[in-house]
Amino acid sequence: MQPLYSSPMSTSESAPKPHNPRMHQGGKLSFRSRVQDQQDDPGDRLVIGGEDPPTLAELVPAGFADVEIEIGPGKGAFVVAATAQKPDTFLLGIEAATGYASLAATRLRETGRRNGLFLVDNGKLFLADRVDQAALAAVHVYFPDPWPKRRHRGRRFFTDDAPRILARVIRDHGYCLIATDNACYAGQIARVMGHSADFERDERHEQELLARGPGHAFTPTNFERKYVEQGRVIRRYAFRRLPRSDA
Ligand SMILES: C[S@@+](CC[C@H](N)C(=O)[O-])C[C@H]1O[C@@H](n2cnc3c(N)ncnc32)[C@H](O)[C@@H]1O
Repeated sequence: MQPLYSSPMSTSESAPKPHNPRMHQGGKLSFRSRVQDQQDDPGDRLVIGGEDPPTLAELVPAGFADVEIEIGPGKGAFVVAATAQKPDTFLLGIEAATGYASLAATRLRETGRRNGLFLVDNGKLFLADRVDQAALAAVHVYFPDPWPKRRHRGRRFFTDDAPRILARVIRDHGYCLIATDNACYAGQIARVMGHSADFERDERHEQELLARGPGHAFTPTNFERKYVEQGRVIRRYAFRRLPRSDA
């Protein structure tokens, strides 16, 4: 199956482009886009969103009752593992850095599995304007960029607008699943999500998911592996979407 809306990688790497709010705001992005040292072949497992990305409904093949999104999958370890563990679920990884997305899609293509896809886009904007209400069983956000400088804090994923954006797209009793090694950012996540009337932290489910092993939630990711080796404390959260009222 050839995906709609895909475009060649080379067009995104050439001449300087005007500001695109759908792309990563960081100056390190050009470096990150060159992480791969060999030619990727993402096949049809990569879609370049550009300025007018496709909707979720256009990206997901018919027949999947459960759709989950990972925001910022990096090299794609979690999505690749999850497509194996959850063959009846469709996993969409939305990655702002083209180089990472291409590498991740190449790895997914090599598995031969068709229940996953990577999209180059700004994950928060995609949730806000390309996803139908209650369309998702889960949103995964693992080791989101902490943007430690105070003047960059507005670029974090979990700012005050995040619960409203997540609550619209996650179905009743679905989950937002989060991991971070950054204590300061963890505090912000706990505050922002914990104060939302639409979500409730579910610590029991956090333990259940961890016990299920890789490819269900939280693990594996490249940053997790690196931080575990360094002995860093990792904080993990499962926020359950409370049922919508009928009113
Ligand atoms: C610190 S890395 C973590 C990667 C991966 N989750 C892991 O644990 O190995 C953060 C990733 O999020 C991506 N990212 C940052 N902001 C994003 C956004 N708004 N939408 C999609 N991806 C984003 C970055 O390009 C980067 O690949």
